[in-house]
Amino acid sequence: RSRCLWQKLAGGLWVASPLPPGCTGGPSRGRMRSSCVLLAALVALAAYYVYIPLPGAVSDPWKLMLLDATFRGAQQVSNLIHYLGLSHHLIALNFIIIAFGKKSAWSSAHVQVTDTDFDGVEVRVFEGSLKPGESLKRSVVYIHGGGWALASAKIRYYDELCAAMAEELNAVIVSIEYRLVPQVYFPEQIHDIARATKYFLRPEVLQKYKVDPGRIGISGDSAGGNLAAALGQQFIQDASLQNKLKLQALIYPVLQALDFNTPSYQQNVNTPILPRYVMVKYWVDYFKGNYDFVQAMIVNNHTSLDVKEAAALRARVNWTSLLPAAITKHYKPVVPATGDARIVQEIPELLDARSSPLIADQEVLRLLPKTYILTCEHDVLRDDGLMYAKRLESAGVDVTLDHFEDGFHGCMIFTSWPTNFSVGIRTRNSFIRWLDQNL
Ligand SMILES: *[C@@H]1O[C@H](CO)[C@@H](O)[C@H](O)[C@H]1NC(C)=O
Ligand SMILES: *[C@@H]1O[C@H](CO)[C@@H](O)[C@H](O)[C@H]1NC(C)=O
Ligand SMILES: *[C@@H]1O[C@H](CO)[C@@H](O)[C@H](O)[C@H]1NC(C)=O
Repeated sequence: RSRCLWQKLAGGLWVASPLPPGCTGGPSRGRMRSSCVLLAALVALAAYYVYIPLPGAVSDPWKLMLLDATFRGAQQVSNLIHYLGLSHHLIALNFIIIAFGKKSAWSSAHVQVTDTDFDGVEVRVFEGSLKPGESLKRSVVYIHGGGWALASAKIRYYDELCAAMAEELNAVIVSIEYRLVPQVYFPEQIHDIARATKYFLRPEVLQKYKVDPGRIGISGDSAGGNLAAALGQQFIQDASLQNKLKLQALIYPVLQALDFNTPSYQQNVNTPILPRYVMVKYWVDYFKGNYDFVQAMIVNNHTSLDVKEAAALRARVNWTSLLPAAITKHYKPVVPATGDARIVQEIPELLDARSSPLIADQEVLRLLPKTYILTCEHDVLRDDGLMYAKRLESAGVDVTLDHFEDGFHGCMIFTSWPTNFSVGIRTRNSFIRWLDQNL
């Protein structure tokens, strides 16, 4: 039977190719034949489901297709559960993700892992060993991604990342288990991470963990990068904090909700893991908004020229002036003359710098610490990161931009088998190397 399968796979067009010997004719072969046909049909169906055209330059394309099909399947099952009224689709999806990412026994002689809470917010603390000759450790507060609604500090993808950081940097990594949509909405996620980080920065807590108060950074990926950027801006404006963060490292961060037609949004409309409409739905969910707005937001109707609230902010996301021609290529800005003013009236948070750190005032940006931004070519969010890098540079901040031509959204957490990607390993190494040199 497996020979039939392989021949069908190799043949590709199973309908057109003749049936292999084991599948045809002869006495008592009828049952075998029909199971071959059934199997071939299933394979074809699966191939149809899995196959999506991908740009040739992306890392490990077949593996990415399988990962994407798995994620899509989980999303569809969750939507069905939601439709049947059994549970909110994001709760169902997160249940699947957490089951999928369950950690098999893991232990490291070099890292001590503790689950605790900082001022009521759950955290997982990874303590690397002290470097010989040093009395204090460096530290990173890490915020996991997942559209403000998914994943956990405890799933193996984030657990392994933070453990690797703790070990390779001889550092203390605080991975925050902030509350997610739909349990809480904007700005509660920011409040959780601010509360946990402020607690950690107390002198007696730093002392307990043997952390050098002058060598603490903040980092996060995707929606976690969004929260890290928001927290960075909040902390430099907070006079009550004695300790300031030494740096911020933002991994393919989400940084703005004003323009869903940047060149990278246009180029990656259907790119795996994070197609555009999925990103726009995460935004709407973050604000407990109405899904009816999604289609209008996709064509930038929420920030059209007749939406007065957006007028002053438009220049801060103007990619025709912020990005070089090599990036903007042939893409045209989508700036409708008339749109739908109801959207930002109902969801004013769309234009809030705490949700869209890219639109913060120059006066705030110039106070930010040294910044690392990792971007991926095959990612709707590439230009969010590129524009932030440009605005920070113009404000006089020291910025390192680390771009991966074969990267896709989310790749940095995919480093171990079976979801190991070459670009996952390279992005992680590059990120940790920058922290090592700058923290
Ligand atoms: C964006 O910048 C370009 C070039 O500086 C300018 O011509 C254009 O009017 C700006 N667009 C908006 C919407 O501000
Ligand atoms: C965007 O706004 C225009 C003008 O109000 C409207 O005609 C169009 O249908 C809207 N597009 C979507 C997708 O909602
Ligand atoms: C993934 O891991 C497997 C098993 O360790 C290895 O054979 C394979 O080459 C790896 N693939 C990539 C892209 O790193």
